Amino acid sequence: MKSNILYSSRISSLAKLNRLLMSETYSDAKFFILVDENTYNQCLPLLISKVSALENADFFEVPVGEEAKSLEVAAQLWGALLDSGADRNSVILNLGGGCVSDIGGFVAAGFKRGIRYINIPTTLVGMIDASIGGKTAVNVENAKNQVGFFHQPDAVCIYPDFLDTLPDLELVSGALEMAKTLLLSDEKAFVNLANSFVGCAKYPLDEIKKYIVQCVDFKQSVVSADPYDKSIRKMLNLGHTFGHAIESYMLEQNRAITHGIAVGIGLECALYLSTMKLGFSKDIYTLFKQMLHHIVDFERFTLADTEHILSYMRQDKKNHDGLILCVLLQEVGAPVIDVAIDENEIRDALLKFGKF
Ligand code: GLY
Repeated sequence: MKSNILYSSRISSLAKLNRLLMSETYSDAKFFILVDENTYNQCLPLLISKVSALENADFFEVPVGEEAKSLEVAAQLWGALLDSGADRNSVILNLGGGCVSDIGGFVAAGFKRGIRYINIPTTLVGMIDASIGGKTAVNVENAKNQVGFFHQPDAVCIYPDFLDTLPDLELVSGALEMAKTLLLSDEKAFVNLANSFVGCAKYPLDEIKKYIVQCVDFKQSVVSADPYDKSIRKMLNLGHTFGHAIESYMLEQNRAITHGIAVGIGLECALYLSTMKLGFSKDIYTLFKQMLHHIVDFERFTLADTEHILSYMRQDKKNHDGLILCVLLQEVGAPVIDVAIDENEIRDALLKFGKF
C-alpha cells in the first residue's frame, strides 16, 4: 500500500490534511494525536488552528526521544486508547520526529490488530526518512528497533515550516540524511547542497527546504519497489553499518551523538571505501568530507576506538556468514548492496576519518 503524501505547494499541506480528514474516508473516525513535550508546545497549537477537523481530537504525550519507544509506553497508549473509546475506525496522528512516528505506528499496528495512522513529521529526518515506508518499532533491552511491524501510514503530511522550530543540531543531523539520499540519487543536487553548506556560516535552510520533496519522492519510490526491505530498500543503509556502530560506541562512552551525525561519520567511511574498492569519485568523497567537517567538530578515532567500533560492527544484524556487509557506491546514484568488507579495511576507513 502506498501512503498519500501531502506536500505544501500553492495550498499548504495542513489545508490538504484538513480536507482529507473531512472526507468520506474518515467520516466516522475518531482522531488521536500523539505528541512529545516539544511538539506539544511548538507544533500542536499551529496544527489545531489550521486543521479544524482535529479541534476535538484527544491527544497523548509520550517522552521525548528514544524513551518513547518502549513496550511500556506502547501498553500505556493502548490502555489510554481503550479508555478513550477508540475503535477500529480510529486514527492516530503522529506529530513529531522519528521516535514519535515509530511508537505511534507501532501502537496503531497492534491496536485491534491494526488501525490507520497518519504521520506529521516535524524534524528533517522525520520528513525525508522516518515518516515514510511503514517501519514501526520499539527498543528492547537497549537494543534499537528490535520489535516492530511493517504498517504503512495512510498519509504523510510534510509541512516544512515546522523546521523553523527545530534546534540546530537536529537540523544538521537531518541534512546529513539528506546528503545520503542525494548521494543515492542525484549528483547535481548533492553537489549543490554540499557546496551551499561549505559556503555558509551556519546552515543553508532555504537550500535544505528545496530538496525535501525530491528526497521524499525518492524514498517513496524505493519503498514502493521493495516495501519489506528484501532488496533495493537496503541501499538506504548507506553509511549506517559504520554509523550504528559509532552511535552505540559513543553512547557506551557517555559521549552520545545524534543518529544523523553518526550516519554522517559512517558515510565518510563508506565513501572512502567506495573510492578504494569501487573507484568512486575522489572529488565527491572530498566534497562530502568538507561538508561534514563544516558541520561537526569531531575528533579523529584512536586505535583503541577502532577496535571497539569494530566489535559493534561484528554484531550488525545485516552481517551474513560472519562477513561484515556494507552498502558502497560505484558512483552517485549507483549503490552496491551487501559488499563484504574485511576488518583491516574497516580499521583503515576509521583511521582515515577526518584526515584531509
Ligand atoms: N530508514 C531506512 C528505511 O526506511 O528503510
